[in-house]
Amino acid sequence: MVRLGLATTLLAAASFAQAAHHKAPKVVPGAYIVEYEDSHAASILNSIKGDATIRKDIRHELFKGASFQFKDLDKAEDLAGKIAAMSGVKAMYPVRRYSVPEHTVHYTGSSVQEVVAKRDTAKDTFTPHLMTQVNKFRDSGITGKGIKVAVIDTGIDYLHPALGGCFGAGCLVSYGADLVGDDFNGSNTPVPDPDPMDCQGHGTHVSGIVASKTNNPYGIIGAASDVTLGAYRVFGCDGDVGNDILIEAYLKAYDDGSDIITASIGGASGWPEDSWAAVVSRIVEKGVPCLVSAGNSGDEGIFYASTAANGKRVTAVGSVDNIIAPALLSEGTYSVAGSSASAFGFTAGTPSAWANVSLPVWSVNFDTTDAANGCEAFPDNTPDLSKYITLIRRGSCTFVQKAQNAAAKGAKYIIFYNNAAGSTKVDISAVAGIQGSAMVTSETGAAWIKALQAGSEVIVNMADPETAPKNLSNFPNPNTAGFLSTYTSWGPTYEIDVKPQISAPGGMILSTYPRALGSYAVLSGTSMACPLAAATWALVMQKRGTKDPRVLENLFSATAHPNLFNDGTTTYPMLAPVAQQGAGLIQAWDAANANALLSISSISFNDTANIKPLQSFEVTNTGKKAVTYQLGHTSAATAYTFADANTIDPADFPNELVANKATLVITPAKLTLNPGQKKTVTVLAIPPKGLDAKRLPVYSGYITLNGTDSTGYSLPYQGVVGSMKAVTVLDKQYSYLSQSSDAALAPVAAGTVFTLPPAGKANETQYANTVYPTVVLTLAMGSAEVRADVVNAKGKTIGQVLTFPAYWNPRGTFEWNWDGALSDGSYAPAGTYKITLRALKIYGNSRKPQDWETQTTESFSIKYAKKNKREFTA
Ligand SMILES: *[C@@H]1O[C@H](CO)[C@@H](O)[C@H](O)[C@H]1NC(C)=O
Ligand SMILES: *[C@@H]1O[C@H](CO)[C@@H](O)[C@H](O)[C@H]1NC(C)=O
Ligand SMILES: *[C@@H]1O[C@H](CO)[C@@H](O)[C@H](O)[C@H]1NC(C)=O
Ligand SMILES: *[C@@H]1O[C@H](CO)[C@@H](O)[C@H](O)[C@H]1NC(C)=O
Ligand SMILES: *[C@@H]1O[C@H](CO)[C@@H](O)[C@H](O)[C@H]1NC(C)=O
Ligand SMILES: *[C@@H]1O[C@H](CO)[C@@H](O)[C@H](O)[C@H]1NC(C)=O
Repeated sequence: MVRLGLATTLLAAASFAQAAHHKAPKVVPGAYIVEYEDSHAASILNSIKGDATIRKDIRHELFKGASFQFKDLDKAEDLAGKIAAMSGVKAMYPVRRYSVPEHTVHYTGSSVQEVVAKRDTAKDTFTPHLMTQVNKFRDSGITGKGIKVAVIDTGIDYLHPALGGCFGAGCLVSYGADLVGDDFNGSNTPVPDPDPMDCQGHGTHVSGIVASKTNNPYGIIGAASDVTLGAYRVFGCDGDVGNDILIEAYLKAYDDGSDIITASIGGASGWPEDSWAAVVSRIVEKGVPCLVSAGNSGDEGIFYASTAANGKRVTAVGSVDNIIAPALLSEGTYSVAGSSASAFGFTAGTPSAWANVSLPVWSVNFDTTDAANGCEAFPDNTPDLSKYITLIRRGSCTFVQKAQNAAAKGAKYIIFYNNAAGSTKVDISAVAGIQGSAMVTSETGAAWIKALQAGSEVIVNMADPETAPKNLSNFPNPNTAGFLSTYTSWGPTYEIDVKPQISAPGGMILSTYPRALGSYAVLSGTSMACPLAAATWALVMQKRGTKDPRVLENLFSATAHPNLFNDGTTTYPMLAPVAQQGAGLIQAWDAANANALLSISSISFNDTANIKPLQSFEVTNTGKKAVTYQLGHTSAATAYTFADANTIDPADFPNELVANKATLVITPAKLTLNPGQKKTVTVLAIPPKGLDAKRLPVYSGYITLNGTDSTGYSLPYQGVVGSMKAVTVLDKQYSYLSQSSDAALAPVAAGTVFTLPPAGKANETQYANTVYPTVVLTLAMGSAEVRADVVNAKGKTIGQVLTFPAYWNPRGTFEWNWDGALSDGSYAPAGTYKITLRALKIYGNSRKPQDWETQTTESFSIKYAKKNKREFTA
């Protein structure tokens, strides 16, 4: 049947042309998770078993329940409703699917290169470590020994020499399991096995960041290389994973005695109540720190927290860009005027059929400062370029335009030379006839041009980038070094919980990769930031001898360094909002050595309508000397959620930032603590003035404690001017009835008649071409509950469109092709209807009608096709 899953295809609310802009979780049709009281397990499971197959039967002190798949999808909602109503049921959730987070693969190593050990292990100079003080631990011999870190991901290539070369007791990857099997894709049946080998790459990269050994050619070191890793593989070689399997993986990692659990997985949410987030929160409460990547949806702007990172007490980790741009360049050689060959590095583009290509270089001119090199049609006296590699300087016009000009003269192979630091991947596959493309550095380009200008022939011998030897070049990162990555997702949750908690280097990170995929790779994502943070948790655990998740998060938060806002090209003279960076960049050595212990990791003053203006925290002196702290605060930029007072969709990145700041009255202003002494600090917040509350400004900053022992600590705070409840959640302009035959999903005219398959026959092939009424419901902001009531011609509600209500929804558009089925399992009789779409306001009470926003569709009619004649005669 052509039914779409809830929120599977999301459209930007502002314009349908931006389809697939939002990245909300997908649901597995007809699959649910039920949580129940143990004493009722048998009766509930029994009644499920008749109509469904059990996906997971989870009997755990932290979660008792099961996930199951109804066999008949058309009856699923009805049956689910009956199960939800059984006594002993605590909660029902849909099974949602999550994918390996989108991340950028900048470079991979060579698939045939021998992995050779040639690094000098004297000092840790790995830049992500210098940025977070990890090098200081290695210098003092602290490497996470004895600590168990569970990695929930795509598995680990444990045969990689830098990842221990084995799996099991005594190995680096010493425990874990494959919960799903190679063929699992998120929808089919998982086939678990004991072997967590990685066939994707993501988990191997993540694991190398935590714990890779030093025997590698590129100087990679895991931040905590003496921990033992637990590999919990939750993805097959392709596709998604359901939250039931994620819950199972977390509970298994917890049962196996993990000291820290890290997961670089997520999906748009913004609600800490969702099932997976709730289970992770319980594990943290049991004393095991859980770190989850904040998400890579920074382009969506503020209020786009990801689950399970958005769970209460879950440590959400944002991403900062590396201070350098490491590149694994493919090696080729060149010779000038028949001289011996010299090596050079290139970044292969698309296409890249460079195997055995050895040709002389030709360039349209010898000007290495030509800003628009190759942008004009090449001159008439240009030779037949099929006999050359055409060399063109980057700049002004597009790569494609330059390539078109070269191709017009017969070029098949093009190398661009850079006009900035390093080299990047080009894509000129749009240009017919091109077989090979690449970029070299400005230095390499200049060397070749100089030789050509002197009248020498330059022969370049290229190599297949798959098999060419790779050379690590550490280029400068001129624009974003040490700043928040533009892709890092922004909090807060819709309930104004502070998210993310902290940031760590995640942009342009060199780490291990499966042997079959090149052994090493440079990747970007919050996926890379989270494991580094988890490793620093292990180091501080070892150094301070505490495993308490609260104490650790408080220490890291108090010692992190907030940074200025950078939009990817420009840096602004104001601190990036807490909603983007949390407490700031991890300073692990300071966390390990802090003598002031704060009792919390952040403060939320909530919105002005629910403001909790007076809050307090305790400071304990754990050092051996009395210290006096001067208290103060520094504001971060205030971010407007909406571009103007009439817009209901949050602005995309970057949200408008203004300097208006809150006034904080901090008491006392000065605090003297003797060794072991604890005192309370109270903070009274007066939200910033002069702001337009309708645009929902989010203010934030840091309470600072400057000690006489020359230490400094900071505590992030955050609040909203305005009312979350007053915010529009339902985007009425994009909530209406459309039809399944319209790819653009335009509204249908009033009075449209739909002929639907006979009840329950929607999945039969003879009805494959049915045009269904499509319910389009767009949330401008998240809503804890949405409904779609079917109202007949007399104005009476006869039920809800099957699949509604839906709980804990991120913003975005739902599309649902309706076959007449109602949530109670019955079918709406043939007739004329309207559908009333409802979304509960943020902080709304579902029992109060005024807390719902509603939009009623045009009226339309449904009738049911007569059963096919052949069915009666067959
Ligand atoms: C998953 O694999 C099954 C076959 O095992 C296939 O029928 C199904 O369409 C796949 N689902 C997705 C989402 O790729
Ligand atoms: C390149 O040359 C090698 C050695 O002569 C040969 O084995 C290989 O097949 C060639 N590759 C291509 C793509 O032509
Ligand atoms: C390899 O990288 C190193 C370090 O960046 C550099 O000094 C060397 O010239 C590079 N070699 C080649 C062949 O590009
Ligand atoms: C903000 O207030 C709302 C409404 O009372 C509440 O539901 C929510 O949990 C509060 N948020 C925080 C972070 O305390
Ligand atoms: C604390 O130290 C920071 C950094 O040196 C400084 O910017 C701030 O003004 C100081 N705060 C107080 C209250 O002294
Ligand atoms: C089609 O619907 C029938 C009746 O509801 C059900 O028994 C059958 O399993 C369904 N088939 C598929 C492929 O969903």
